[in-house]
Amino acid sequence: MCGIVGYIGYRSAIDVLLNGLTKLEYRGYDSSGIALHNGKHIDTYKAVGKLSNLKDIINPIKSELDKSTVGIGHIRWATHGAPTTINAHPHTCNCGKLVLVHNGIIENYQELKEKLEKEGCVFKSQTDTETVAHLIAKEYGKLHNLTEAVRVATEKIEGAYALCVMHQDEPDTIVATKRNAPLVVGIGENEFVVASDVPAIIDYTNKAMYLEDNQIVTLTKNSMKLIDKDNHELKGKIEVLPWEPVALSKMGYKHFMMKEIHEQPSIIRNLLSGKITGLNEPLNLSEVKLDKDAVKDLNRIQIVACGTSLHAAMVAKYIIEDFCNIAVDVEPSSEYIYRKTVTDKNTLVIGVSQSGETADTITAVRQSKEKGSHILIITNRPDSTMARYADSLISVCAGIEVSVAATKSYMAQLVAFYLLAIYIAEIKNSADKELLKRLKKELIVLPEKAEEILSQETPIKKIAHKYANSKNFIYIARGINFPTALEGALKLKEISYINATGYTAGELKHGPIAMLDETLPVLSIMMKGKVYDKILSNSEEAKARNAKMIALTNVTDDNLKDLFDDIITIPETDEYLSPILAIIPLQLIAYYIAEFLGKDVDQPRNLAKSVTVE
Ligand code: F6R
Repeated sequence: MCGIVGYIGYRSAIDVLLNGLTKLEYRGYDSSGIALHNGKHIDTYKAVGKLSNLKDIINPIKSELDKSTVGIGHIRWATHGAPTTINAHPHTCNCGKLVLVHNGIIENYQELKEKLEKEGCVFKSQTDTETVAHLIAKEYGKLHNLTEAVRVATEKIEGAYALCVMHQDEPDTIVATKRNAPLVVGIGENEFVVASDVPAIIDYTNKAMYLEDNQIVTLTKNSMKLIDKDNHELKGKIEVLPWEPVALSKMGYKHFMMKEIHEQPSIIRNLLSGKITGLNEPLNLSEVKLDKDAVKDLNRIQIVACGTSLHAAMVAKYIIEDFCNIAVDVEPSSEYIYRKTVTDKNTLVIGVSQSGETADTITAVRQSKEKGSHILIITNRPDSTMARYADSLISVCAGIEVSVAATKSYMAQLVAFYLLAIYIAEIKNSADKELLKRLKKELIVLPEKAEEILSQETPIKKIAHKYANSKNFIYIARGINFPTALEGALKLKEISYINATGYTAGELKHGPIAMLDETLPVLSIMMKGKVYDKILSNSEEAKARNAKMIALTNVTDDNLKDLFDDIITIPETDEYLSPILAIIPLQLIAYYIAEFLGKDVDQPRNLAKSVTVE
């Protein structure tokens, strides 16, 4: 989703901005733009499509632009108005003197626009953002002070925004502010980089200040002033970021997605380290800040998440209910926030998010916090907005995930949930001790089993290529692997644009079976355990309708060859833990199909990595 960068200092601003935008590319975008102050006036450059298109415009004149040491940049993921050059940021007021970039959605933009049009403003774009440019410019006309103009204008705005603003008449100033959208200021020696996310600043400094909602920061080359919405000066909290410059290297892989799939075994290992100290020792999860009595008193857990994170949460429901005997509701955050949800002091609310910036999940978490629930956040970004709402925080430490399609973060979330379920079950004494011991023992060897799957990719690749031209795909499973079917189908849809759907195998005959014919592949996820035979029967039903049958199984059974056209076999594990291994071949299938079809694997069309608008 949109990303913004601003630079003021002594370096060539264009270099810092292009580098920063490249580091934010992973968020997903469809156009980009830059504005530079050259001391006299501001020039803007915009392009539709990849950043390389913007670079193509800039490169022939780059030596002239290098003199500018103040500028702002943007990658846009279209919400209001198509991805066109006119709609790309930066946006300007009518006289062109005020220029800004924006991440978020201005909810009252229609109302503001009508008023501004009556006052003579002429709109060039279809965006909500342009309203803000006119609004601030109007205030500037009265106040002649950019900070004040931003402060007064943003009081009139409803919705979410992170803004970086420049004015021709204040050549040594960038003003930035935010509400319900992330913004961090990197603080260097006589320079500042302000951005939507840390990767854009970390090449220049590891000292940073996260802006709080409604704070306004005014940056010059050698000063930074922070105020609140009432113009009171504030002392910002400056942090040293625990980050190294982000190389964003593919490490020899063709795509980040493949690199990230291959990182999964070590991610499991890292997450387990220090947690399982002995099979007879209680699992150590000091991240959970509820005391033991509060854990014993828990009567309900609500998990809110979106997309892939939601699928991890669905697996969690199976294990937490089974091991901990606590009712678990799992709900897409975007639904949860628009209805009455019943919680009490014994309800634990868990927000799961790779980015920690998903707007719907942040809102869900905020609402629950206001109602007094204990908030546990499971995220890959402990520095995110969502993490700031956490009473308990499990940082899954999967490392930055560049590929828009989530893989390693899903794996890390799953492992975090297994640890949490075992931790609660041990405190509550609610599960068979031998079962928990067995699971801990098995968790420790799972990284090796994951490595085994990854070392045998060739047959999976062949199967992927065989079915790559299918128009539709069905994934079926039952029980704890139903979320695996949903996640496998989501991965395929996202990066290959094939219509793939996950069903519980038992539901197939209640409707979807009508779609089956010899053109439709059905992939049955059949892990050893209590529902294995049931899925086998459901697969027979699909086979009888001439579907092309693919098995993903950890059972070696020669009879399967009669039923299935293709079989992917993975190492055996406990049924409870099987989602951890079963997802890996499905990630690979999605990858190899998309790659075969020549799709943009790491940056699929229409998708954004951080969905910062509701
Ligand atoms: C799928 C994917 C998305 C995200 C979803 C939530 O590959 O990446 O479905 O899972 O947008 O994002 P987070 O986890 O950052 O809240």
